[in-house]
Amino acid sequence: MRPRSMLTPDSQRALPRPVAAPEPRPGQAELRARAERELGSGLPAHLAIIMDGNGRWAQSQGLRRVFGHKEGTSSVREVTTACAELGLESLTLYAFSVENWKRPPREVGYLMRLLKRFLRSELETFRRHGVRLKTIGRISDLPPDVQAVLAESERLTAGHQGLVLRLALSYGSRAEIADALRAVAEDARAGRLDPAAIDEETLRRYLYDPATPDPDMVVRTAGELRLSNFLLWQASYSEIFVSRVCWPEFRRPELLEALREYGRRVRKFGGLVSDAPSAVPIRARAREQSR
Ligand code: FPP
Repeated sequence: MRPRSMLTPDSQRALPRPVAAPEPRPGQAELRARAERELGSGLPAHLAIIMDGNGRWAQSQGLRRVFGHKEGTSSVREVTTACAELGLESLTLYAFSVENWKRPPREVGYLMRLLKRFLRSELETFRRHGVRLKTIGRISDLPPDVQAVLAESERLTAGHQGLVLRLALSYGSRAEIADALRAVAEDARAGRLDPAAIDEETLRRYLYDPATPDPDMVVRTAGELRLSNFLLWQASYSEIFVSRVCWPEFRRPELLEALREYGRRVRKFGGLVSDAPSAVPIRARAREQSR
């Protein structure tokens, strides 16, 4: 018989312990250059993923939905490690949306415990791969114990120089834009901001994590063709890749397939190929194609 819960009760777990200093490792730029040579194509600096299909995968295996979330955690681990090794700068994972609060309380509770367990168990992996944890979303909506583990994990990984893993939690793009607009209005009312000077860059500065550049590619698993309120502002010029595979089966080979596809795209940002900003890694390839 399958155990009722695959998770150790909270009461038996301690907060994450401090981890040793980050291991010396090549910088992300060097790792990326190496990986790009091996793959023969440019890689995105920032990849964002809508992890979908956990429930469907579990049902296809004759399991309860929550086992899809549990198996999905292994995909999170494998994809994060692969992105760190490939030298990507940022990976944003849509782990829990503002709309997900509508799910049955048992499923929400399970996801929260899974998140805590993941953060505690991954600290050593984060250290080995130089992964730094960040969050975006209405973090204050999360249960206080989850907030505490997140804050501790962010603190313990703050000095890591490799991949930035951003977990989108209680995240919704419309909520993010509404939160930003409220802060803009407050600053304008207080005289800190001139309404006439507000432009796109002003609004960007009020989003949850303005320091991280926009995603170069958004991947969605399980075949659905929608953005589901994810990074609507930031993904304006992102390449979209939809994988038919459900998230628990999206592993390193599926990631590499998406990244190879990225290398085949030509990004023009509404202009001509020759206008593509130098930060875009596939620019060199795009230039060659246009010759
Ligand atoms: C969508 O699948 C997935 C989620 C709502 C949660 C994602 C959570 C994880 C991958 C595991 C925990 C995350 C971390 C970061 C440790 P769904 O349940 O909507 O699938 P369905 O559309 O097939 O029902």
